[in-house]
Amino acid sequence: MIDAVGQPQSLLVLGGASEIAQAVVDAVAARRCRTVVLAGRESPRLAEAAERARSAGVEQVETVPFEATDVEGHRALVDSLFDRFGGFDVVLVAAGVLGDQEADEHDPAAAARVITTNFTGLAAAMVAVADRLRTQGYGRLVVLSSVAGDRARRANFVYGSSKAGLDAFSQGLGDALAGTGASVMVVRPGFVKGRMTEGMQPAPFATTPEAVAEAVVRGLERGNEVVYVPGVLRWVFALLRHAPRALWRRMPA
Ligand SMILES: NC(=O)c1ccc[n+]([C@@H]2O[C@H](COP(=O)([O-])OP(=O)(O)OC[C@H]3O[C@@H](n4cnc5c(N)ncnc54)[C@H](OP(=O)(O)O)[C@@H]3O)[C@@H](O)[C@H]2O)c1
Repeated sequence: MIDAVGQPQSLLVLGGASEIAQAVVDAVAARRCRTVVLAGRESPRLAEAAERARSAGVEQVETVPFEATDVEGHRALVDSLFDRFGGFDVVLVAAGVLGDQEADEHDPAAAARVITTNFTGLAAAMVAVADRLRTQGYGRLVVLSSVAGDRARRANFVYGSSKAGLDAFSQGLGDALAGTGASVMVVRPGFVKGRMTEGMQPAPFATTPEAVAEAVVRGLERGNEVVYVPGVLRWVFALLRHAPRALWRRMPA
């Protein structure tokens, strides 16, 4: 159970090979998290993430197959994991794809793939997770949203709208969990330098997976509901949300 200073002892990651998730695992391992379950698409990357968690000192590390778009399978998977591990203090929703805006906006199947992965699939999984958190009466659901969801930009509106959907869903779910002992924390990083953004020109206030991880740990300690990374983006986007449309549509990705 989350200890007196807000540190989780057990963590389930949906999207277990994510670079940001791996940094979160390192951060909670350093604070004595004992159990980490990495649910992700089977790949050498997922196995390496498990190895990294063990090297970071986590006693019990397991990988399990998780496909975000398999909405029919989420309930059974989540229930089996909660039963097997006796519940989780934190469930981190980290799966996601950036997509290719130029191609996706002309390809119905490709656009649907981004939206189903980032929004529909994960929202369905979160329904199953929230039911278990509600029943156990404690636990934090941490969702990696994005500032891209604050206001969809012409340059990446497929990804941005999927994050907007995920973000709105997460906030509503957090409200639905109020008073149950369980809660939701929405994390909105800006540009994170790493695999997902490889080859892209870093945006202003670009950050790192490690900085996102530290913000997640701090947010858990403080019981935050919404966390921007870096924090200054909260104010930047509060202003940008009101930028005139003609200006906004020229914003780069
Ligand atoms: N990087 C950024 O600039 C940034 C900024 C804001 C928010 N975020 C969000 O933060 C989260 C983590 O991103 P990251 O930077 O750590 O990127 P990442 O390393 O590419 O991680 C994304 C993970 O999602 C998994 N995934 C993709 N499609 C999936 C599917 N259909 N089913 C199951 N898993 C799937 C990938 O699995 P595989 O390993 O099998 O490919 C990968 O492990 C994402 O939701 C992303 O949108 C990232």
